[in-house]
Amino acid sequence: MKAKFIAIEGGEGSGKSSLVKLLKEVLADTAVITREPGGSPYGEAIRDMALKNPLAKDAPPATTLSLMFASRFDHIANTVKPALTAGKPVITDRFDGSSFAYNIWAQANGGLEKLFWNLRSHLDLVPDLYIYLDVDPKEGTRRAQARNAASDANGKYDHFDDRHVEFHGRVREGYLKFFAKRKWIFFPKIPHVIIDANRSLEEVKQEFMAVVQKELTV
Ligand code: TMP
Repeated sequence: MKAKFIAIEGGEGSGKSSLVKLLKEVLADTAVITREPGGSPYGEAIRDMALKNPLAKDAPPATTLSLMFASRFDHIANTVKPALTAGKPVITDRFDGSSFAYNIWAQANGGLEKLFWNLRSHLDLVPDLYIYLDVDPKEGTRRAQARNAASDANGKYDHFDDRHVEFHGRVREGYLKFFAKRKWIFFPKIPHVIIDANRSLEEVKQEFMAVVQKELTV
């Protein structure tokens, strides 16, 4: 059976971090749990540049998009592909759905879309399944603000956390556009499952784990 590649996507306050933490506990021995931007040594260096460098906040969207894909190409070559080739499933916390939602849709108002699909066409592989944690932007922003005010923010803060609820509304719109995308007849639909993340974390966890386990066993 071919090892599966799954991407977890979601906006601010969608519960994604808690669910990825759970995956690390449950699947530590069976799957590689990784993240974007980052996920490989060079990819992580690019992550710091794209998210932590004080100059990153005012960079044009094309710069951010290019850095995200630079990290992605390295991540695929040095982490994802070797694991899949060795028969280990890979689950990544974010992939190119985040580029479409944050950089193309929320940052660039739909500009750069051609560049996105062009870059995507050069990826050696794309996920077998995307799982999107869909949270209402108002609720997501409320949860994120509570988290950032509490001690469990853990230095996770990045400049996208600063943006207002309108920005996160556009992020959500971008995700939904990405998953609905079918550009040409021969262009395969993006395989995805959307999970309602407005519910309690316990409820979301159950559905999420069931989707992951099912994908890993088919
Ligand atoms: P995270 O800690 O939830 O993984 O956050 C990473 C941040 O990077 C998040 O604000 C979304 C942003 N991002 C992009 O803008 N484009 C991308 O392609 C990816 C993967 C993340």
